[in-house]
Amino acid sequence: MSAAPERRPEPASAAMPTHIGIIMDGNGRWAAARGLPRAMGHRAGAEATKRAIEATAQAGIPWLTLFAFSSENWGRPAQEVLELTGLLRHYLRHEIAQLVRDGVRLRVIGDRARFGAETGEAILRAERDTAGGTRLNLNVALSYGSRAEILAAARAMAQAVAEGRLDPAALDEEQFSHHLSTAGMPDPDLIIRTSGEQRLSNFLLWQSAYAELYFTDVLWPDFNVGHLRAALEEFGRRERRYGAVAG
Ligand code: FPP
Repeated sequence: MSAAPERRPEPASAAMPTHIGIIMDGNGRWAAARGLPRAMGHRAGAEATKRAIEATAQAGIPWLTLFAFSSENWGRPAQEVLELTGLLRHYLRHEIAQLVRDGVRLRVIGDRARFGAETGEAILRAERDTAGGTRLNLNVALSYGSRAEILAAARAMAQAVAEGRLDPAALDEEQFSHHLSTAGMPDPDLIIRTSGEQRLSNFLLWQSAYAELYFTDVLWPDFNVGHLRAALEEFGRRERRYGAVAG
């Protein structure tokens, strides 16, 4: 997001999401289709990530959550895990100045402790250095799994009940959501998943209760501002009823 003029995604409808979540999928298939190692797919994916952040901010959408590393991704071959975590560390260290210039506030959700001290420090520094950003709130989900997040919230509240600090009858959805890693953030209105897969894969399950789901066959490294615009146009055409009848 430099001073250079940008092509703005221009949705046909005035209805715009406040919060988009993206499941960035297809890096491996993108690389395989080119006879390249998977690591090259992840690198190209990181470039697409930068484009998506820029395009989201340009569109005036204030919240973006990216699924960059799931709790299940630890089960990939050790070499690929090393490459992915190395790429994330590189991003956290080298893109921060640009994020600050662009008014992007970065937060990490997920089990950051699993990445070890070096990455943990890079995360903390990135969060601290970008804390003044007001243009785009960017959440990067790392070692994230929605069921574990919901379970941790349930455990914390069970503990509070056991200690007499919480009346179970007084517990409501609002209170429950304050125990999630997204406490205080708006729920996503739109979840995008690339690469043709049509599932949520343990991403923001509680938070996405009323989100519109948008699936595209585009592989993540190919995702660009035009693809984001298409998703926003589709979002603008959806009728969101939240369980009520059409008005
Ligand atoms: C899914 O593709 C993608 C991932 C597991 C990692 C996502 C990481 C990035 C987009 C790059 C780094 C991100 C940042 C924030 C710098 P896959 O490997 O599952 O692809 P496949 O399904 O085709 O094998």
